[in-house]
Amino acid sequence: MKKGYVDVVLGLQWGDEGKGRIVHLFSKDYSLVVRFQGGANAGHTVYIGGKKNVLHLIPTGILHNNTRVAIASGVVLDPEVLAHEIEFLESEGVKVKGRYFIDYRTPIVFPFHKKEDGLFEEKGGIGSTKRGIAPAYRDVYQRFAIRAGDVLDKKHFESILKKQIEFNNAVLRHFGAKELKEKEVLEWFDRYRWTFEDALCDVSLLIKDEIENGGAVLMEGAQGTLLDVFYGNYPYVTSSHTILGGALIGAGFGHSVVRRVYGVFKAYVTRVGKGPFPTELNDENGEKIAKIGDEYGATTGRKRRVGWLDLPLLKYAIWINGVTHPVMTKLDVFDGFLRVNLAVSYEMSGKQYEMISPLTSLLERVSPVYESFTDFHGIKYARTRDDFSDGVKKYIRRIEEFIGIRIASISKGREDNLI
Ligand code: IMO
Ligand code: MG
Repeated sequence: MKKGYVDVVLGLQWGDEGKGRIVHLFSKDYSLVVRFQGGANAGHTVYIGGKKNVLHLIPTGILHNNTRVAIASGVVLDPEVLAHEIEFLESEGVKVKGRYFIDYRTPIVFPFHKKEDGLFEEKGGIGSTKRGIAPAYRDVYQRFAIRAGDVLDKKHFESILKKQIEFNNAVLRHFGAKELKEKEVLEWFDRYRWTFEDALCDVSLLIKDEIENGGAVLMEGAQGTLLDVFYGNYPYVTSSHTILGGALIGAGFGHSVVRRVYGVFKAYVTRVGKGPFPTELNDENGEKIAKIGDEYGATTGRKRRVGWLDLPLLKYAIWINGVTHPVMTKLDVFDGFLRVNLAVSYEMSGKQYEMISPLTSLLERVSPVYESFTDFHGIKYARTRDDFSDGVKKYIRRIEEFIGIRIASISKGREDNLI
């Protein structure tokens, strides 16, 4: 029998590259779509019948009737958000119950994690989404996290919950905040445990079975490469592994089953939260891109920072993920622009660099060297690449030449076609 495979969709920038939309378009060709890292900090926007929907935890693949979805052990799961998402989708006529799986090992995000995340931000954090992501991962590495499958062993569950509450209350005290009572935490937990109790399984083995049965599995990345906790722009990062390696660890499979790595990037760059941003625009071009591109956070509603496409960082992201299929999104935002800039190298202390590690100390010191492109029109109406105006063709060619790979797909607007 024909063997199946795993394809991976990842963000190559600071998140919000349009991964949700790409996964939505692709997922009809996959029998299983898996989230492998992050949590409710993700905001994957998809348009169904012209209506905007944002999914935070459930993989976007749920919108296709024949696709099953899974939340793997690398994700941190907030069952309250999951409950709302399931109820919302079911009310929209999307069947969710019975079609999703959750790994036994998936750590749970508790109300004290969210509270701490908010308090930490108030005292000058890094601009997190306040979804409790960093405290939840911290408890995993501290080895007293509650994982979804712990509900199967009541005694064990109660003993770790005690430890967790004790520790997290000490943290809340440190911030001068009200502590949470064990009773209220348990009540909260009991209200939402139905979201995962019937869905528990070993997602790694689910993927194995799927592949052995000739199925196609898609990994839906959240956040982006520059937000990876090791390789991103530390400390202005999220607390999970957003890169290809994160998919292997977070969902539990080996490299030999990976077929394609789709790397999604916008025709420009956005960033939410703090941290250096070399090509950031604080002028009317920035305003225009933000407005046309609707660059407001899908999770927090914050206005996203906007800048020109940055090839030195893009090249770094392509390397670290082993991208085989780059996907460019939102090119149509440039329709009618008189001039579009593209950063083709960085200058630092009189030297030029074509690729750079996203270290804060470096990103704060570099100045981008730009090439300018003109003649951007009719992008929305193009049906093939040949239809693009000369300026757009030159822009695409320059990017491909720089990264050394053909851009596999370009999306340009909300309708369903990629070219
Ligand atoms: P999607 O999947 C954009 C950013 C936050 C903050 C940093 C840490 O929609 O691309 P966290 O709450 O994770 O501890 O915040 O990461 N961030 C995102 N930015 N898109 C996302 O997800 C993000 N998830 C987290 O703004 O700078
Ligand atoms: Mg988002």
